[in-house]
Amino acid sequence: MPGPARYTRWMTEALSHHREFELSDETATLALGSQVAGKAQVPQIIFLRGDLGAGKTTFSRGFLRGRGHDGSVKSPTYTLVEPYESVPGGPVFHLDLYRLGDGQELAYLGLGDYLSAEGILLIEWPERAEAQLPPATLDITLTPEGSGRKATVRAADPALLEALSD
Ligand SMILES: Nc1ncnc2c1ncn2[C@@H]1O[C@H](COP(=O)(O)OP(=O)(O)OP(=O)(O)O)[C@@H](O)[C@H]1O
Ligand SMILES: [Mg+2]
Repeated sequence: MPGPARYTRWMTEALSHHREFELSDETATLALGSQVAGKAQVPQIIFLRGDLGAGKTTFSRGFLRGRGHDGSVKSPTYTLVEPYESVPGGPVFHLDLYRLGDGQELAYLGLGDYLSAEGILLIEWPERAEAQLPPATLDITLTPEGSGRKATVRAADPALLEALSD
């Protein structure tokens, strides 16, 4: 397993394409999630970065709707993982690693199986276990901008970025 520094450098190089989106309100965050969901192929590992309240779960909610899930989407803050195995677009596993003490806990908590599951992973707070996670195929950072947010979307596949509309 490569060390964290090497891993991060490799990832940054791999996700060399990026685009930015202005998200003026919650609806725009939901819409971006839904749009990305419509273009994302399986398998996909999506890192969601940004401070508490940045909109990571909101994006995930839009994403799951976009894959055809019409039930509720709870934040996995306390459960660490919320699996959506019978979504029309294929299984989606939504993780929130905020409460993880360190990356080694992933295995103790039995989360390892989710990481190798065939499907799409949405991972909030990947920083908590970056060295233990597989490399992201999409890396999304949400930052406050005025009363809204800015999303920086990095991808290994430029075609996916080009397919998104502003
Ligand atoms: N583009 C936006 N503009 C303004 N508010 C937004 C935007 N997107 C989401 N929000 C709001 O931000 C709040 C927090 O969102 P959310 O729970 O998705 O954050 P989070 O990043 O998942 O936080 P945590 O790290 O605690 O899990 C919600 O009230 C949501 O409506
Ligand atoms: Mg959240």
